[in-house]
This record gives sequence, structure tokens and C-alpha cells, in this order.
Amino acid sequence: AAPARYEAETSPAVCTGTIDSDRAGYSGSGFCNGGNAVGAYAQFTVNASAAGTATLGIRFANGTTTARPAGVIVNGSTVQTPSFGGTGAWTTWSTTTLTVSLNAGGNTVRLSPTTANGLPNVDYIEV
Ligand code: GCU
Repeated sequence: AAPARYEAETSPAVCTGTIDSDRAGYSGSGFCNGGNAVGAYAQFTVNASAAGTATLGIRFANGTTTARPAGVIVNGSTVQTPSFGGTGAWTTWSTTTLTVSLNAGGNTVRLSPTTANGLPNVDYIEV
């Protein structure tokens, strides 16, 4: 099946910072600018039709030259920590894909930065 898209600006997603629309190229009506702090987050609730592994795509932009690593926390457990490297500009968006295990039904997927630079800007995730 085609992946389902979950926009960072659409409830039940939660963004600890602001939903911004000042950096072009995003999908939907905006993106999550989570705030520049450890503990900031963008959180999504995604549905899986069956338990098992799934491909998680995360669309982001990082207009700095410093990577912004973040934990990918699925149902409360950190399962990966991708680096979210610089994309060249805040208007240049990139998608990183990971493989994660999901439960059948609803799953929370939280992206939470491990450095004080915070998250990259987060547009959406796809599962
Ligand atoms: C700039 C940019 C924001 C970004 C922020 C950051 O302010 O305009 O879109 O979120 O930097 O460093 O996270």
C-alpha cells in the first residue's frame, strides 16, 4: 500500500515549538519548528494495520551545517538516533528513511533532539 502521510501541523501531532510556514517547500500548511533545546519534540500518532516492521520516512530541513541528531522514540522507547544533517538551506527538504517495529493500531512516534540545537524543521512523517 502507499504510505500514509502524517503532517506535523495536524492534530493529533504535537509540536513543542511553533508551526511555521516561512520556509518554502513544505507539504500541507506548515512544519514543526520544535525549538532549540534537548527535550523539544515533534510527536505523531501513526496507524499500522498489523504488527511488524515498517518503513518510516521523515521529511526535514536543516539549514545549518551542523547535524541535529534526534531520538526516534516509538511507543516510549528510543529505537534509533538519526543525525539529520544539513540540507543546504531551510527551504531544501530531505527525507530520511528508517525501519521501525510497530504494534497493530495506533503508535506514538516522537522525534526528540539530543543536542541543544534542537530538531531540524520537521514537515511530515510517512509510514
Ligand atoms: C531559523 C529558521 C527556523 C529554524 C531555526 C532553527 O530561525 O528560520 O526555521 O527552525 O533557525 O535553528 O531551528
